[in-house]
Amino acid sequence: MKNHVNRVVLVGTGFVGSSYAFAMVNQGVTEELVLVDLNKEKSEGDAMDLNHGMAFAPSQTKIWFGTYADCKDADLVVLCAGANQKPGETRLDLVEKNTKIFKSIVDEIMANGFDGIFLVATNPVDILTYAVWKFSGLPKERVIGSGTILDTARFRFLLGDYFNVDTRNVHAYIIGEHGDTELPVWSHADIGGKPIAKMMKDQEHYKHDDLEEIFTNVRDAAYHIIQRKGATYYGIAMGLVRLTKAILQNENSILTVSAQLNGEYGHDDIYIGVPAIVNRNGIREIVELSLDEEEQQKFDHSVEVLRKVMDPVLK
Ligand code: LAC
Repeated sequence: MKNHVNRVVLVGTGFVGSSYAFAMVNQGVTEELVLVDLNKEKSEGDAMDLNHGMAFAPSQTKIWFGTYADCKDADLVVLCAGANQKPGETRLDLVEKNTKIFKSIVDEIMANGFDGIFLVATNPVDILTYAVWKFSGLPKERVIGSGTILDTARFRFLLGDYFNVDTRNVHAYIIGEHGDTELPVWSHADIGGKPIAKMMKDQEHYKHDDLEEIFTNVRDAAYHIIQRKGATYYGIAMGLVRLTKAILQNENSILTVSAQLNGEYGHDDIYIGVPAIVNRNGIREIVELSLDEEEQQKFDHSVEVLRKVMDPVLK
């Protein structure tokens, strides 16, 4: 049987989009990668530049500057278009501008017969993922946001550094809004199966204040990076590639993505960062953790903040 040729269409080749394309080629994730952007020149240049590096890539990716017509046969459309945070701006400040941009993009993509999975990265990602679900009419499991995938990665990196263990052996989640109201799930955080709470009790040189500082650094990471280099793009691009792999390779991996709740965690009709099983069909199911009282309160607050911003624009 002829092997399926995976096609990914990337819409928006700004900092995040072009970093995603670069990472996709270097990790050899897909057979076809189509770049779509209003700035034709820049995207054509990106396609040429990436193609010229193909001899160094682990496998061949066919890359071209394309149009929304290329979405018809796409497995995945990754949305990185839109405005990003400027110094001093929160992600939620971008909602009006980017929702309008997304309406026109998604209408064009659907008009071209797209019937795959949307992966949304543009901020405010939870609200824009809801917007894409609403505008596209696709089933909720096939509209996924990057959610807190990067926040969770930042959390695991800093915890790994603190406890001097490989990041990959740290199991801890950041859930909620990808933004200022996100929260750490300490009640389910462990290292190699040993609860961090127990490690804190057993070894007095580990300090609770240090853990709080780690979370604050995770939550505010984007502001610190934007202050220094004007934008963030490598971390989120790598997170998007991780998500793309989980989808295209039908992994059934658990990743903290922006998923639509229908009763889980006590809420419905909202997209927000939660652990979910991701595979070829999108989100297979949401992993519902038993949050402690404080975590549930913070999660409820995060939902409330998102609703306050989203409802006037999308309801
Ligand atoms: C960040 C952007 C992706 O957190 O919101 O770096």
